[in-house]
Amino acid sequence: MLDDKKLNLLLCITGSIAAYKSVDLARLFIKNNFDVRVVMTEASKEFITPLTLQAISGHQVHENLLDTEAERAMGHIELAKWADLIVIAPCSAETISRLAQGRADDLLGAIILASEAQKFIAPAMNMNMWSNQTTQQNVEYLSSIGMDFIGPSKGEQACGDNCYGRMSEPVEIYETIILTQNKPLAGKKIIVTAGPTREQIDPVRFISNNSSGKMGFAMAEAALRSGAEVILITGPVSLSCSPKIKRLDVQTADEMYREAQSSMSDADIFIGCAAVADFKPAHENIQKIKKTDKDRLNIQLQKNIDIISSLAREYTDKRFMGFCAETESVEEHAKSKLIKKGLDFIVANDVSKSDIGFDSDYNEVSVFTDNSHQFFQKASKSLLAIQLVNLLSQDNQSLH
Ligand code: C5P
Repeated sequence: MLDDKKLNLLLCITGSIAAYKSVDLARLFIKNNFDVRVVMTEASKEFITPLTLQAISGHQVHENLLDTEAERAMGHIELAKWADLIVIAPCSAETISRLAQGRADDLLGAIILASEAQKFIAPAMNMNMWSNQTTQQNVEYLSSIGMDFIGPSKGEQACGDNCYGRMSEPVEIYETIILTQNKPLAGKKIIVTAGPTREQIDPVRFISNNSSGKMGFAMAEAALRSGAEVILITGPVSLSCSPKIKRLDVQTADEMYREAQSSMSDADIFIGCAAVADFKPAHENIQKIKKTDKDRLNIQLQKNIDIISSLAREYTDKRFMGFCAETESVEEHAKSKLIKKGLDFIVANDVSKSDIGFDSDYNEVSVFTDNSHQFFQKASKSLLAIQLVNLLSQDNQSLH
């Protein structure tokens, strides 16, 4: 565990307006018993001074590769060996590109090549630079050789755009690294459901809902970071996930239930994030329903199976976390679902607030158990997912 040993963390800062956030990041690690040393690229010094980082870290900042004085103090190879963890935050498009090429003509590049430490990258750049094919290919390559990307997140950028490219908040970077290091749910098997279900009326029409699947995917990624084996059963969404997650794509509630049921016997935790359609057409029409002169069309609906509730009743030895979206009396409705469905946790969000919930990248939730209530303030879904997985791991510890 991290508490036992003071870990050496090398924080590398590159040229981005987000460089000012590195101060908070360094502070978070130092406060939590890490020894932090800082490497700054030339471009980063246009945004923040080495003196600031020296004052925060308590060590002289490392800036140059070919500086005899600096090399005498702690050269690139020594720094590479010293580091238990390397975090590049913010990491510019230029640095990502240089890393992908294996360049070693500056201090950062040389250290990355020379170090066997685990490396985390928090990108920060304009949204078009991030989505650019070349950047994405570089990211894919660096991920394939073990570099761990955190973010970027969606939000307002310095250039005025509002999309993916913003550096993740320091607390999210910190919590992600701690969870990845500690792996509190190693050896556990977690099933996550995500997205909407799609209930076919006829070959071209269906009943569904607005769920984007983002919260479920964030839960699956956080569960993976916690060391668990993860099965993600998802309805139709346009999201991708880590290749280390076993992803099962389904359409209907019945298919979702079947997949969950067949993986359940050796699972430890079930997380129900899916917005399962409550009803399905009682009869599926094989042919497309034809328009007629009548003003009304009656489609008879039949209740879908409640997946989480049936599994919770059957597998009483496992832990169940459900999610609910409410528009009023959030606590009352959430608690009643907790009891009615036989869950251990229910995560409730108020979808009457327009800046959080369904398609947003942010959420604000309250978690209820039979004897507790915890509020998690507005944060990115990825940070909330980490906080919720931490809650599950505390619960797991208390069970043993
Ligand atoms: O829709 P509702 O508020 O009842 O959803 C609460 C929880 O129950 C969620 O975790 C959802 O995934 C789960 N659920 C389910 N099967 C259903 C309806 C909801 O597993 N048919």
